[in-house]
Amino acid sequence: MKIKSADFVISNSDVSKCPNELLPEYAFIGRSNVGKSSLINMLMERKNLAKTSGRPGKTQLINHFKVNGNWFLVDLPGYGYARVSKKAKKTFQKYITNYFEQRQQLVCSFVLVDVRHEPQKIDMEFMEWMGENGIPFCIIFTKADKLKPKAIERNVSAYLHTLLEGVWQEAPQHFITSSTKNTGRDELLNFIEGITEQFFNDQKK
Ligand code: GTP
Ligand code: MG
Repeated sequence: MKIKSADFVISNSDVSKCPNELLPEYAFIGRSNVGKSSLINMLMERKNLAKTSGRPGKTQLINHFKVNGNWFLVDLPGYGYARVSKKAKKTFQKYITNYFEQRQQLVCSFVLVDVRHEPQKIDMEFMEWMGENGIPFCIIFTKADKLKPKAIERNVSAYLHTLLEGVWQEAPQHFITSSTKNTGRDELLNFIEGITEQFFNDQKK
């Protein structure tokens, strides 16, 4: 898929104020600093469309971007950021869970995990919660430029293996990406294109 346009639409902490156009939507979620905003910029071929930072906690709201006039991409704040107050964390968790539970046009979410790290409890719990609530998602391994191919292969298969030892009977679809090297860009965009076409075909029925 070619990216012809990518425009910021609105930032929100209230799911009821998110755009109400019925377009297929894709959300990026994961721990703070895992590379959600960077991946969005890489996919859109834009340096600063989504705000990034070396310090965790950069993205604080639900950010909608409209792509090619017919789908939405959503940049979310990271979970598991320790340096915010308990109260802030609760408020934040609430609007994120509201978003996932209520957003009907959300066709697929991407849970990002750093390819260098072993499975983390917070990610496992989040994926379990997604599964229990019937929210479809894929896993995106980020920062692949930081490891050699052999190590990537080893980590990814160990990660998927851990998932299968847990509550999952089937591993979710996964992608391996690097925002600095553009790795995984075509695969992800093709995947999104396929689901988007399906969404519009289903609408016609
Ligand atoms: P929050 O908004 O705080 O939740 O973080 P985020 O998940 O949006 O992460 P962000 O994209 O801001 O990136 C965090 C840091 O990781 C930045 O310093 C990025 O430059 C770096 N980073 C992100 N993706 C990659 C990647 O693929 N490779 C490398 N080497 N660094 C990356
Ligand atoms: Mg961010």
